[in-house]
Amino acid sequence: PAGASRSVSDGRLVVVSNRVAAPSASGASGAAGSGAGGLAVALQAALKARGGIWFGWSGKVSQDSNAPVQERTHGSVTYALSDLSRRDLDEYYHGFANRALWPICHYRLDLAKPSAPDSAGYFRVNEFFARRLARMIRPNDVIWVHDYHFIPMAAFLRQLGCANRIGFFLHIPWPSPDVARALPAYDRILRAMSAYDVVGFQTEGDAENFRNCLVQAKAGRAGGDVWREAYGRRFQVDAFPISIDAEAFAEEARVAEKNVLVKRMRASLEGRPLIIGVDRLDYSKGIRQRIEAFASFLEQSPLAAKSRVTMLQVTPKSRSEVPEYAKIQREVAEQVGIVNGKLGDVDWTPLRYINKVMSQSALAGLYRIARVGLVTPLRDGMNLVAKEYVAAQTPDDPGVLVLSQFAGAAQELHSALIVNPYDIEATGAAIARASSMPLAERKERWGAMMDVLRANSIDNWTARFLQALGGDAELADS
Ligand code: G6P
Repeated sequence: PAGASRSVSDGRLVVVSNRVAAPSASGASGAAGSGAGGLAVALQAALKARGGIWFGWSGKVSQDSNAPVQERTHGSVTYALSDLSRRDLDEYYHGFANRALWPICHYRLDLAKPSAPDSAGYFRVNEFFARRLARMIRPNDVIWVHDYHFIPMAAFLRQLGCANRIGFFLHIPWPSPDVARALPAYDRILRAMSAYDVVGFQTEGDAENFRNCLVQAKAGRAGGDVWREAYGRRFQVDAFPISIDAEAFAEEARVAEKNVLVKRMRASLEGRPLIIGVDRLDYSKGIRQRIEAFASFLEQSPLAAKSRVTMLQVTPKSRSEVPEYAKIQREVAEQVGIVNGKLGDVDWTPLRYINKVMSQSALAGLYRIARVGLVTPLRDGMNLVAKEYVAAQTPDDPGVLVLSQFAGAAQELHSALIVNPYDIEATGAAIARASSMPLAERKERWGAMMDVLRANSIDNWTARFLQALGGDAELADS
């Protein structure tokens, strides 16, 4: 395969993602249209260290689909952003990415709405971006493409003659072959993934699912543990579980005890215990099931009702133009009303539901004062809220994480209370157990999870992926 045997670790880093954490014109950091979390910070650090480009969507819709790439350079890093036309955004992002790839990768075949124009739009926008990117790339650059929006990026770059090392990391789950086969343009997608040199997933289960897809499509041949040969190329398929900077987050949470919003929250609780959930408003997050489990907990435990436990669900709206998202927004809002109406009292709102985006500092402080963290997605690639909740705890009085077995994080955080989020009563019982867990057990579980987080920090993740991509690992292997 092109470029396979040379080490190019001295080249620039080129990061490609739909959302780009470009600093604003004033220099403040941020992401186009979403908050910049640990991932953005880690990628910025890697970009700064090697110098490079962060390329992606500007977050803006433009009438002129040929508006030039907007380039902004800060030190050794250039941010290169492209607008999208309304039609491109609808077909590529709202359509194929979020009505076909997202639901199917999250095992929701019932919510998949494939359409031929959306498929065409997805490949068209990828080709459009690839052409723009190809003009900026130098022979020694290492290219790192992120997430489901840009699966065909490498295939288009190869067509344009790009022989660079190109890696892909999928932030969301990759399903088993029987589910993956429901993807529109499935064969083309599989073939496109084989144009990379490294294909990374969140968990070993996801990586194995993908390897099985290649086998079932009669495309893949094993070539050593993580090596695969398919469609005439040899590449690495491996798990790179993403993480956070646990120490930095712990410090942020400690400082955030003084955050005004956190203080207001604490004051308003008047000593009542707090349970917290934080998720984008997405059907994959299991928010409805979680609210039911919380209600079941209150009904099961008279003591909890007596102590007037409060659950705070922070849920910024997401992808509201996609009909399936508009629907889940209405359903969750309705359910919050039902539970509060049924179980609340004149001086107690059991469930506080907020659609606001909150700062990382406020969230860190809220995690810290919450006795229980509920992370109960029906399916999730990793889920960094689970890791952040753990890192934010007070070492001598830590809270308890209740974690879905279907979150990638459950493969690492074995000391959480692991639940099946579809089993409402069992999840309710786990909330009860978490709420009354003795201090010694809480400390032991928390300590074990912190050890895991410290052993695999976000810097580790970046370094491991880039090492694989740099070609060094391949040289060692062959
Ligand atoms: C998930 C995806 C990201 C995406 C984020 C927010 O975490 O893996 O790629 O950026 O959701 O969704 P949005 O559609 O607003 O970018």
